[in-house]
Amino acid sequence: MILVGAGGHAKVVLDAALLAGIGPEALLDDNPTTSRLWDVPVIRRTGEWAAMVAGKEFLVAIGDDHTRARLFEEIVKAGGRPVNVVHPRAWLSPRALCGSGIFVAASAVVNPGAVIGDNCILNTSCSVDHDCVLGDHVHVCPGVRLAGQVKVGALTMVGTGASVLPGVRIGEDCRIGAGAAVIHDVADHSVVVGVPARGIPAAGSGTSV
Ligand SMILES: CC(C)(COP(=O)(O)OP(=O)(O)OC[C@H]1O[C@@H](n2cnc3c(N)ncnc32)[C@H](O)[C@@H]1OP(=O)(O)O)[C@@H](O)C(=O)NCCC(=O)NCCS
Repeated sequence: MILVGAGGHAKVVLDAALLAGIGPEALLDDNPTTSRLWDVPVIRRTGEWAAMVAGKEFLVAIGDDHTRARLFEEIVKAGGRPVNVVHPRAWLSPRALCGSGIFVAASAVVNPGAVIGDNCILNTSCSVDHDCVLGDHVHVCPGVRLAGQVKVGALTMVGTGASVLPGVRIGEDCRIGAGAAVIHDVADHSVVVGVPARGIPAAGSGTSV
């Protein structure tokens, strides 16, 4: 198995993988700052990511959602096989439905009926309650609370410590600010912050959401 990325998030994923008994053969990175991480070789990418991972099991261990999504799609297209890494101290209900290429960090809880898309990160101590539906490439950051039946669209990041009320629908490619309390639905491509969460202009857009 290959971990794609060798930054801070990859360190957390590698730690969980080793604890779960998965020994990655290498980490691949564009700009490695070390040649080994805990005895696992860190290799500089020399060509296409996809070519180096084709035919192998892989997990993209990169926090940025758009980068993670792009690499995931490229590598799957080239024949890579995405695998899940679940920290042994996470709780993933057997009655939740998970895609592939997912990382579930320590103390994360995923309750029954939840549906998790491909290439998602369920980060440290987050909770994803019953019947939540997460699209592909979603990042649920540390300490987030998703109450029951919340929907989160593809490529959305729910920032550290945010809470989302039951049944709220968050669109695709949104950024939910750290510590936000989301009490209303959020439209696609929105950035919302605060308690209760309200829209702010998306960086570079010059428009309010
Ligand atoms: C919401 C967020 C995505 C916005 O990022 P951004 O587009 O770069 O926004 P800026 O930092 O330029 O801030 C824009 C405004 O929103 C405010 N703001 C930003 N984040 C906020 C937050 N979480 N809560 C309240 N206000 C916030 C800023 O103070 C600023 O206000 P101002 O215009 O009055 O000065 C980001 O601040 C955030 O909270 N990210 C969470 C990241 C995270 O949890 N990562 C964990 C990785 S494991």
